[in-house]
Amino acid sequence: MSDNINVGIIGTGRLGYHHASNVLRSKGANLAAVSDAAKESLDRATKNFDVKGYSSYKDLITAPEVEALVIATPTQTHYEILKEAIKSGKPIFCEKPITYTLEEAEKIVEAVKKTNAYLQVGFMRRFDPGHTAAKDMIVDGKCGKPIYIHDCQRDPNGPPKEYVPQSGGLFVDMGIHDLDVARWLMGSEIVEVYAQGAVLKHEYLKELHDVDDGQILLKFESGALGMIEISRNANDVYDTRTEIIGLTKSVFVGQNQLTPYTVIGGQQIIVDMANWCLGRFKDAYELEMQAFINAVQEGRPSPVTAYDGMVGLKLALAATHSYRTSSAVKLTY
Ligand SMILES: NC(=O)c1ccc[n+]([C@@H]2O[C@H](COP(=O)([O-])OP(=O)(O)OC[C@H]3O[C@@H](n4cnc5c(N)ncnc54)[C@H](O)[C@@H]3O)[C@@H](O)[C@H]2O)c1
Repeated sequence: MSDNINVGIIGTGRLGYHHASNVLRSKGANLAAVSDAAKESLDRATKNFDVKGYSSYKDLITAPEVEALVIATPTQTHYEILKEAIKSGKPIFCEKPITYTLEEAEKIVEAVKKTNAYLQVGFMRRFDPGHTAAKDMIVDGKCGKPIYIHDCQRDPNGPPKEYVPQSGGLFVDMGIHDLDVARWLMGSEIVEVYAQGAVLKHEYLKELHDVDDGQILLKFESGALGMIEISRNANDVYDTRTEIIGLTKSVFVGQNQLTPYTVIGGQQIIVDMANWCLGRFKDAYELEMQAFINAVQEGRPSPVTAYDGMVGLKLALAATHSYRTSSAVKLTY
């Protein structure tokens, strides 16, 4: 491997383009090549980043100049691309959800185990400075035993109509982040979920069999409880909050969303809010890419494993099933 790792990005849409910019900004990596199935997207990336482009992801994976892979294509394509990527032996960063179905995710976990492949899944909140500070407090015992988590994630608006069928639905597309944060911060597996959902604003979601608001009640193996709210209705801002109650102290992430100050005056309180996850979690996306590069260079294990990706998907699919059947779903590991 070269001193600077040569990274290839597969999929240069919303997230892939952002990851490519972060690779360029990172220490210890070069952006070597990009691949996209759509000519317009590929042309934009090769022109703006001045790198080699491949219309076929298979050619990028086997390209000798590419040493590490970032996968940011639609979720349904992850399984096939991951199989090829694992075969290549190159380290992999893959966007969430790891795959579209649980069976596929289980097969990827097996393949990673068998080949000792490096695979990091894109749960960027695990790198957000607020969330990592909360995690450190919990691990250091400063909150006492964590007994309750309340987490909410609200998108500014409804998703693009064409994105909905490939998204996996609200509980998978958005909820997977909250479910991952919950099991990671609480340090305990979620053993039961009960979910409700409804279309409260975006009527077009009904014909696409999706909802714009959901709630998931959680039971943890440790005996702790939790609640997650997910919404597409935050009226043009992106709003995430995570509150962990411990036996001795509570910690709240997300009250001051973007800047550490609040403006008060004229009978108003004004705080800065992002209008999408790319703004709110700007640092987290940069830090997760840097963590990928550092771990690969230093030969360390992945901080967010294929198993974490599989469990996140298992929980999100369980929540979807719970909503559809109006019944609690128990989970075993
Ligand atoms: N971590 C996060 O916060 C976050 C946020 C949004 C999306 N995502 C995930 O990122 C992934 C991509 O989402 P997006 O919003 O960027 O989608 P997008 O549709 O904007 O971009 C996907 C790109 O992949 C390309 N593509 C499709 N099939 C391909 C193939 N076989 N080979 C190469 N390129 C191919 C498309 O042409 C498109 O340019 C999804 O898995 C999604 O769940 C993660």
